[in-house]
Amino acid sequence: MAILDIIEAPHPILADKAREVRDDEFGDALEAHMRDMAETMYAAPGVGLAAPQVADGRRIVVADPANGGSGDEPNLYLMVNPVITERSRELTTSEEQCLSVPDMTIKVKRHKTITVSWRDPHGEAHAETFEGWPAIILQHELDHLIGTTLYDRASGLKRSRYLRARKKAVRG
Ligand code: NI
Repeated sequence: MAILDIIEAPHPILADKAREVRDDEFGDALEAHMRDMAETMYAAPGVGLAAPQVADGRRIVVADPANGGSGDEPNLYLMVNPVITERSRELTTSEEQCLSVPDMTIKVKRHKTITVSWRDPHGEAHAETFEGWPAIILQHELDHLIGTTLYDRASGLKRSRYLRARKKAVRG
């Protein structure tokens, strides 16, 4: 297990569209990599992490909606090639933060309920319907796979504030 470096916006990898994981990439090595992603997420601490955030341009998401959310038992999802197959008409507004966009909170409109299908690291197919907080987290993570972060959703003012703060952080 290892903690991976989390890339911060703006960064070309975060803006790229992730590619599908190929059939020959499933297996123990993929699971080990995703467990590292999960460890990185828990250490941050966060409730979700997408592969582009750790410089891996593949359609991979780890998420634990219970971690820091409702306080339920941890329930880790390891999702390879996740796809949203159904979206409710009903929307909800969430206040979101992102491990790749530190110290920024953005209001985002999300579908209240979604159905996601995915494969686990060994290739087995899964599908589940998520409502509320878990649905919001997964929509946020799947946005990362098409190159969209909260940075892209921020107003010009919020962006320039963020960039000024980042510059100071780099200078130490
Ligand atoms: Ni994020």
